[in-house]
Amino acid sequence: MSVNKELKELLSSDLETFNSVFKSAMQSNIKLLDFVLRYIHKQKGKQMRPMFVFLSAHLVGEVTEATARAASLIELLHTATLVHDDVVDDADKRRNLFSVNALWKNKIAVLAGDFLLSKGLSLAMVHKDYEVLEIVSEATREMAEGELLQIEKARRLDIKEEIYYEIIRKKTATLIASCCAVGAQSVHADLETVEKLRQFGEYVGIAFQIKDDIFDFEKTNAIGKPQGIDIKEQKMTLPLIYMLNISSSSERKKAIRTVKKHHDNPEKVSDLVDQVNSSGGIQYAEKQMYKYRDKALAVLGDFPSSKYKVALESLVNYTCERKK
Ligand code: IPE
Ligand code: IPE
Ligand code: MG
Ligand code: MG
Repeated sequence: MSVNKELKELLSSDLETFNSVFKSAMQSNIKLLDFVLRYIHKQKGKQMRPMFVFLSAHLVGEVTEATARAASLIELLHTATLVHDDVVDDADKRRNLFSVNALWKNKIAVLAGDFLLSKGLSLAMVHKDYEVLEIVSEATREMAEGELLQIEKARRLDIKEEIYYEIIRKKTATLIASCCAVGAQSVHADLETVEKLRQFGEYVGIAFQIKDDIFDFEKTNAIGKPQGIDIKEQKMTLPLIYMLNISSSSERKKAIRTVKKHHDNPEKVSDLVDQVNSSGGIQYAEKQMYKYRDKALAVLGDFPSSKYKVALESLVNYTCERKK
């Protein structure tokens, strides 16, 4: 399932503007960097974050140039975090291509990610989009904290469900929350409206990351990035946490031993993936994902009906039904 056609049509001129701002930011006079940037730009990704920015803006006002800049800033920042994330996770694939670190090594990936982040920030600075910068710089801090909290917990393997939500809220949901907040901010919505849309985006973002974590337990290999990698990286995500909670103590010990000692052994990881699949862990994670989807839809319910509201609803549903 791709983002539905009506939605793409509705946003076609917005996304065109966004793509031209985004593309011109993805350039450098340094040949090596420019080469890497062109490579990254070859595979666009789903562009869900810019869609959240534009739809939130349309929902409460008239879209301006500041909206397109905010969408570009967020997508640049998102791209930077993906490039960095693949270094952190030692992942060799992204969007069906080799990751930047796989092709050029970590050094270049770290620096290219830094470049993208600063390009985004200066784009907003030049136009004095201070409110947008305030929201986005706070999100950037939270994302780094979320990643580090995840590493701290991976070391101790003692993660409870509550901590899992805290991690994904910080590492993923904050940015989607920012999309909706800056969208509203870019059309000068009042504070209460900005906050409401931020909350909406946070719930969607949590559902979004639960979905991403479910993908990691699938064996279809169709999402364009490595699977089974979360266990390899000792990330305890919701399907696994559920399985551990319902297992007998001997099963639990065996599973923990795999995560702790055999996470580099593909056969043992594959056995653990099977165990999670047969435990009902995926269904449990889906149930929680739908809970957050419904919370998001409930917040949206307070806004007056419009085609943009309908479009946002379908983007929320796509978040949970997407195949990649
Ligand atoms: C991937 O985000 C990173 C996560 C927060 C899980 P997306 O799935 O939106 O990545 P692209 O941009 O479409 O590749
Ligand atoms: C996503 O974490 C959060 C980011 C800040 C990129 P993951 O490590 O689960 O994302 P993917 O699955 O590699 O895209
Ligand atoms: Mg990753
Ligand atoms: Mg993942």
